[in-house]
Amino acid sequence: MMVHIELENMKRVFRDGTRIGPINLTVDDGELVTLLGPSGSGKTTTLRMIAGFIRPETGILRFDGEDVLDIPPRERGIGMVFQSTSLFPNMNVFQNISFALDMAEWERKDVIDRVEELAHLLDIERLLARRIDEISGGEAQRVALARALAIRPRLLLLDEPLSALDAQLKERLQFEVKRIQRHLGITTIYVTHAQSEAFAVSDRIAVLNDGIIVQEGTPEELYDKPKTEFVARFVGGGNVFKGRVIESIDGRLQVEVADEIVELQGEAEEGIEIVFTIKPEDIVCSLSDTGVPVKVLSIIPQIGAYKVILQFNGTEVDSLTNDMEFLRAIRLSDDKSARMRFKTSEAVILERE
Ligand SMILES: Nc1ncnc2c1ncn2[C@@H]1O[C@H](COP(=O)(O)OP(=O)(O)OP(=O)(O)O)[C@@H](O)[C@H]1O
Ligand SMILES: [Mg+2]
Repeated sequence: MMVHIELENMKRVFRDGTRIGPINLTVDDGELVTLLGPSGSGKTTTLRMIAGFIRPETGILRFDGEDVLDIPPRERGIGMVFQSTSLFPNMNVFQNISFALDMAEWERKDVIDRVEELAHLLDIERLLARRIDEISGGEAQRVALARALAIRPRLLLLDEPLSALDAQLKERLQFEVKRIQRHLGITTIYVTHAQSEAFAVSDRIAVLNDGIIVQEGTPEELYDKPKTEFVARFVGGGNVFKGRVIESIDGRLQVEVADEIVELQGEAEEGIEIVFTIKPEDIVCSLSDTGVPVKVLSIIPQIGAYKVILQFNGTEVDSLTNDMEFLRAIRLSDDKSARMRFKTSEAVILERE
C-alpha cells in the first residue's frame, strides 16, 4: 500500500511572523524524498502540516489526488517517527509496538502476528519483553520505527529518526531504513539536517532554507549541479569563489579572482561578476610553478583521500588529493607554499541569491 503526495503552495505564518512556505512538492508512490535543511528551516513544520497537526493557512494537500486537509491526522494513514523518540516509558517494547493496533481494536492473535512480523523485520525480537529504559538508543529508534509501521500506514514520516545515534550506528541504521522502505514499498518523507544522511537514504532531496524549497533533485543532481551558493555550500561541500569575467570565448572563461586569473568553462558575459563553485576533488594542488599561489593550512586524512585545507585570498579552500609525493613534500616544506589549479570542466556557475 502506498500513496502519491502533492503539496501545492502550502504555507503557514506563525504569530511572530516566521513564514514557512509556500511549499510545492510531489512524492511519488513508493518514493523516499528527504527534506534537507539547517535548523529552523521549516522541516518539522512541513512534516506536521502533512501529518495534520498543523493546518496550513493556504495551499492544498492531496493524497492520491484527494484533498486531505479536512481529514484528522489519525485517519490519514500515516506512520510517524518524531524528532525525539517518544516511546511510552511505562510500557514494554511489545506494548509500544502494539499500541495503535489495540486502539484500532485488532484481534489479539492478529496483534501478536503483526508485532512478531515487525520485530523480525527490524531485528528486535529479543527485546519485546524489555522496558523502554532497558534498551539502547539505537534499539529505541528501531522500536519507534516498528511502532510507526504497525498499522500499515500508506505514508511514513520520519523526522530526524537517527539524530541521537553515534556515527557508526547511524550509518548502519540508514541502510536498514532504506532496506525496509524498499521492502515495503512505502511512500516516505524523511527529514534531516545532515547531507551525508540525506545522500545515503534518498531517491530525491528537497533542500529547504528559510521556509522554502531552494532546490530539489536526486543526490547526484544536487551534488553536481547546485544552483545557488547556499546549496553549493550546504549540500555540495563545495568551495565558492567570486570573480569578474575578463574574457569569454566559445564557452571558455578567463576569470579574475582576487588578482589571479583562472580559467573555467561556462557561458557568461565579459565584464560581469560571477559566483562559482568547485568541489574539493576538482581542485589540484601541486608544487609546480603554474597555478594560483596558496598556503597549505592543514592535511586531514579521510577515507579514500587526504583533505588539504588551503588558504587563498584570506579564505579557506578545501581540496582532496591522493598525490603522496606532494603531501610528503609539503610536510617537509617550511613555508607551506603551493599552487592551486581548477579542473576547469567541473566549475559550476551559480545563480545570484
Ligand atoms: N508554533 C510555533 N510558533 C512560532 N514559531 C514556530 C512554531 N513552530 C516552529 N516555529 C518556527 O518556525 C521555524 C521552523 O521551525 P521547524 O521546527 O519547522 O524547523 P526545523 O527545520 O525542523 O529545525 P530543526 O532542524 O532545528 O528541527 C523556526 O524558526 C521555528 O522557531
Ligand atoms: Mg525539526
